[in-house]
Amino acid sequence: MSKYAVITGASSGIGAEFARQLSAMGYETILVARRADRLRSLQDELAAPSKVVEADLSVRSGCMRVMDALEDRNVEVFINCAGFGDCGKFIETDEEKESSMVDVNIKAVHFFTKRVLKYFKEERQGKGYLLNVASSAGLLPAGPYMATYYATKAYVTSLTRAVSYEMKQDKSPVYVGCLCPGPVNTEFNDVANVSFTLPGISAEACVSYAIKKMFQKKTVIVPSLRMRAAVTAGRLLPPCVSIPITARQQKKKLG
Ligand SMILES: NC(=O)c1ccc[n+]([C@@H]2O[C@H](COP(=O)([O-])OP(=O)(O)OC[C@H]3O[C@@H](n4cnc5c(N)ncnc54)[C@H](OP(=O)(O)O)[C@@H]3O)[C@@H](O)[C@H]2O)c1
Repeated sequence: MSKYAVITGASSGIGAEFARQLSAMGYETILVARRADRLRSLQDELAAPSKVVEADLSVRSGCMRVMDALEDRNVEVFINCAGFGDCGKFIETDEEKESSMVDVNIKAVHFFTKRVLKYFKEERQGKGYLLNVASSAGLLPAGPYMATYYATKAYVTSLTRAVSYEMKQDKSPVYVGCLCPGPVNTEFNDVANVSFTLPGISAEACVSYAIKKMFQKKTVIVPSLRMRAAVTAGRLLPPCVSIPITARQQKKKLG
């Protein structure tokens, strides 16, 4: 019986790389994003069969379309990767863009976390892997000049850690974890109107590390030694020290 992996945000960057690497491992993939043309060109590259689901995840009907695609398929892996950021002073940033960011980065991730875990319980005898793509931003206390983005990712890391704890208490074999990268070279910056102040890692390196750690069932996955050190320092420093450091880094991105 074929095994499936669903990847949201597969039209670009980290999501497209998850599709390539999981497909090379033999998973049939379900590729989700708004830009169906990009998903169709990705399909041509993939090693195993795939299906395209064109969906806007900022609306409930788009999320429902993805759940419909799970029906009658043996979905073992679900990667919640779709997301985006924005940069600027909170009082000046575009409210509509931020509202959509909350819909995609929080509400869609919340929806899929609940629905996919129920699916794993009911359809897969409690087995499966759910990986939420958060960010190292979600492990830091706050991110001035990228305030909404940091807050959305903090929601994802908090939710994931709590749900993972509950699953472990229930001795469930289901894996729930979050991927928390630092800068990765993708189209993220163009959408967020920023430039990195630290050099990014490749999507290939980020995803191969994430897949290895996901199958080892690590709850919080931080690729790259530099980011692991930064996150540890961020945890050890009091917020009155770490927030100004983060603010300085973010402000530089504004150019
Ligand atoms: N790059 C980084 O430095 C970095 C670091 C930490 C975490 N992350 C996280 O990694 C994830 C992937 O980002 P990326 O770096 O790969 O950026 P990217 O290249 O810009 O890819 C973003 C993906 O999200 C999808 N998406 C955005 N809005 C959507 C919507 N309304 N409905 C459906 N899909 C939507 C996009 O597809 P369409 O536009 O085709 O819909 C695209 O496939 C995000 O959650 C991001 O926050 C990135």
